[in-house]
This record gives sequence, C-alpha cells and structure tokens, in this order.
Amino acid sequence: MILPIYLYGEPVLRKVAQPIDKNYPNLSELIASMFETMHQADGIGLAAPQTGLSIRLIVIDLDRISEDKPEFKGLRKALINPQILSRDGDEEYVEEGCLSLPGIHEEVPRKSRIHITYLDEAFLPHDEVIEGYLARVIQHEYDHLEGKLFIDHISPLRRQLIKSKLVTITKGKASCHYKVK
Ligand code: NI
Repeated sequence: MILPIYLYGEPVLRKVAQPIDKNYPNLSELIASMFETMHQADGIGLAAPQTGLSIRLIVIDLDRISEDKPEFKGLRKALINPQILSRDGDEEYVEEGCLSLPGIHEEVPRKSRIHITYLDEAFLPHDEVIEGYLARVIQHEYDHLEGKLFIDHISPLRRQLIKSKLVTITKGKASCHYKVK
C-alpha cells in the first residue's frame, strides 16, 4: 500500500521515534508498504516518521542506483531500532535530498564511517561497520528517528537561502509527483 509522505512542517518529523518489538502490529505489511512508497517516490531511503509513524524503522534501497554504483547491486535493507554507536573517518560534504523536503538539495557534512547495531526484518541482530555512501544514507535516515532533518546540518547562510522554499512546503504548495501530507 502506498502511504502519504509527510512533508516538512508536520510535527511527527520533529519527534524522537520510539523503539518497537516483534509484537508491533502488521510489521511485515508496514515494511512492504514503506518499500513500495519509497519506490514510487523514487527514493533510496525512507524512515517511518516520514509516513507519520514515530517508530524506529528505516528502509533503504541502493539497488536502484546500482547502474552507477555496482557495489550496491541487490542492497535492500530494513533496519529496526538502529543505534549508531560511533562515527569516525573524514568529514565529507555530499549533496542530499529528502522526500520530506521536495525541491531542496544541499551539501551536507557527515562522517564517512559508522559503527551500527540494528535488527533486521526477522529481528536478527546485526553489528556492522559501514563506510562511504551507505554510511551517509543510514545517517540521513537515522536523523529522521531523532527528529532531525538534513537541513539542520547546513550553514545559517544556506539555510537563509532556502527559507522561501521551506515556506512553500509548509504552505502545501511544493510540487511533488508522489502522495503527500
Ligand atoms: Ni530524508
């Protein structure tokens, strides 16, 4: 089922999301719906708060960019209750966008390597060190679980420059090819 994507200005995007357990209702259907919603919006990552649910669940699909980056062939993941234990490596600036911030793209500084634990769809635990672009995508989605957005990391000057675009989004006037709230 395709879910509406909550846009900048919706309070759920600023809440710290709660962990879930195996008893969370209809979890496998929810994960399937999040993948479907992300695909039809041409996204590579989606966090549950972007669908209005303040829970610690992320889906990622880098397979869709595997023509450019073959190392990501088949890389589709659901991460439940992820915890970033540490971030290190170089600080890199790479352009990011977000389905909750249509029309905005900014270079965002992030560390190049993270140590993360999470549960997969079967609630099996994982403990991984992840580098490069996947580390960036996970940090972006993890921010959503903490009530943060990528624009929180940009300079006051850049923030000023996108102010009118943010107002357009909060007024419900941003153009989007996917279903939004
Ligand atoms: Ni996002």
